[in-house]
Amino acid sequence: MTTEEASPEHPDGDRLQKVMARMGVGSRRVNEDLIADGRVKVNGELAVLGARVHPGIDEIEVDGVALSSMPDTVTYLLNKPVGVVTTAEDTHDRQTVIQLVPDEPRVFSVGRLDMDTEGLLIMTNDGKLAHRLTHPSFGIEKEYLVHVNGIPSRAALRMLREGVELDDGPSLPAQASTVAPGMIKLTIHEGRNRQVRRMCEAIGHPVRRLVRTRIGPISDTRLKPGSWRELTQSELLELQRAVEPR
Ligand code: URA
Repeated sequence: MTTEEASPEHPDGDRLQKVMARMGVGSRRVNEDLIADGRVKVNGELAVLGARVHPGIDEIEVDGVALSSMPDTVTYLLNKPVGVVTTAEDTHDRQTVIQLVPDEPRVFSVGRLDMDTEGLLIMTNDGKLAHRLTHPSFGIEKEYLVHVNGIPSRAALRMLREGVELDDGPSLPAQASTVAPGMIKLTIHEGRNRQVRRMCEAIGHPVRRLVRTRIGPISDTRLKPGSWRELTQSELLELQRAVEPR
């Protein structure tokens, strides 16, 4: 993979030493020393200080060991509450998802949810898994319960299913069904910025409340907002199966 194939989740990439810290290698300072000492490679090339990388896309090696294959990977399922941001650090001092899970080993969120969106978020230090879960080519399903203004007609739901015009191109085919008046279940395979909100806006039914209820095979109706748990071995296997290249 090259840095040109950037994930839409991380358009500019993050500083290498920061990504390494998040993946549990060491503090930023230690990582800077590792880079300066020529012990770090990105996509097989010797890394330079200040390089930007795309977590989960670029292959990072320390002393010849790929970070994604390091032991002790952990994968959590978090029920993100409203008002918490998905970025690793927030310049406005808002609570971040990182603060809701254990400090060690350092994990990062797989994709993003808007501050106002609730629901399931996977957090891991497994770069390869994160990459596969977010990269559009793997097309992992994300299911949302969407409370909208008004009551979408059958034609409006059909538009959601067939694809609506967005400013960054039409949405791909999706599944959409009515759960209750003004409440729809929408399943998409993409992860564009504010995609569900923009799709619903495009059909004239702005979102009032947005809850992610499933990521591929992973769902949990009992996990309380603000709580997290580790994925079970069988969930991890199902997830691995869901992101196997076809
Ligand atoms: N779609 C959105 O609009 N927001 C999210 O947080 C996730 C999907």
